[in-house]
Amino acid sequence: MALIEIDDVVAGYGIGPDILTGVSLKIEADRSTCIIGPNGAGKSTLLKAICGLVPIRRGKVTFDGAPLNGLRTDEILRRGICFVPQDRSLFPDMTVTENLRMGGYILKERHAVEERIEEVLGMFPILRERRSQYAKTLSGGQQQMLLLGRALVLRPRVIMLDEPSLGLAPIVSRQIFDSMTALKAAGIAIIVVEQNARMGLAFADWGCVLDLGRLVFEGASETVLSDPRIEELYLGRRRRTGTDG
Ligand SMILES: Nc1ncnc2c1ncn2[C@@H]1O[C@H](COP(=O)(O)OP(=O)(O)OP(=O)(O)O)[C@@H](O)[C@H]1O
Ligand SMILES: [Mg+2]
Repeated sequence: MALIEIDDVVAGYGIGPDILTGVSLKIEADRSTCIIGPNGAGKSTLLKAICGLVPIRRGKVTFDGAPLNGLRTDEILRRGICFVPQDRSLFPDMTVTENLRMGGYILKERHAVEERIEEVLGMFPILRERRSQYAKTLSGGQQQMLLLGRALVLRPRVIMLDEPSLGLAPIVSRQIFDSMTALKAAGIAIIVVEQNARMGLAFADWGCVLDLGRLVFEGASETVLSDPRIEELYLGRRRRTGTDG
């Protein structure tokens, strides 16, 4: 049994049309998954459907064998699935430490939260250095690290990230993906939606292509990266670096 099983899920917003039109996907505990696809394909919607932010109209999502359909986002979070949305939703006028503390607001034991904040600050030295600064004064890369750190306070089993490299310089994106690799090594299953498909697939073990609300291809990341049709349709041409052109 996979950690998360997404079975023929149809989902959409309000009274609007179906955005996901029957997506099936297994998220294994011991591998990271990258979801790619064009704008409007439904990538963010899929993450939101998993964590209860978009209602599932048909089909089923199970986590560790238990259905998630109909649960509230905070209940899903308590079970260990943490969603880091695209919009860098930090509390801008709170410090780094206060933002981390907010990550643990659903935990009952206050001292456990402080302990975990220490753990997170140990993982991200730059956040320790800036712990008393307001979140709004951090660079884009540092804000993204703080988002990762805030998710980690809950010791989740799954972290879903929507476009973590958005708006970041390539070298900073690289640092974020390095941090994600460390989380992967710590046994957290990662699901990442990434606009920079090559970078996302280089990080992940498993790649999925979503298009028009459907899963059109999945496989080991290397397979996705080396498939000529996928390259043509979804990866964009590789820039020539040789001198033979
Ligand atoms: N809150 C919303 N209300 C209504 N429709 C929405 C909402 N959010 C997204 N949609 C629609 O759902 C479809 C899929 O959007 P989604 O954000 O999931 O795509 P995406 O693959 O994440 O695209 P992008 O690469 O641009 O982030 C789009 O047609 C979009 O207009
Ligand atoms: Mg999106």
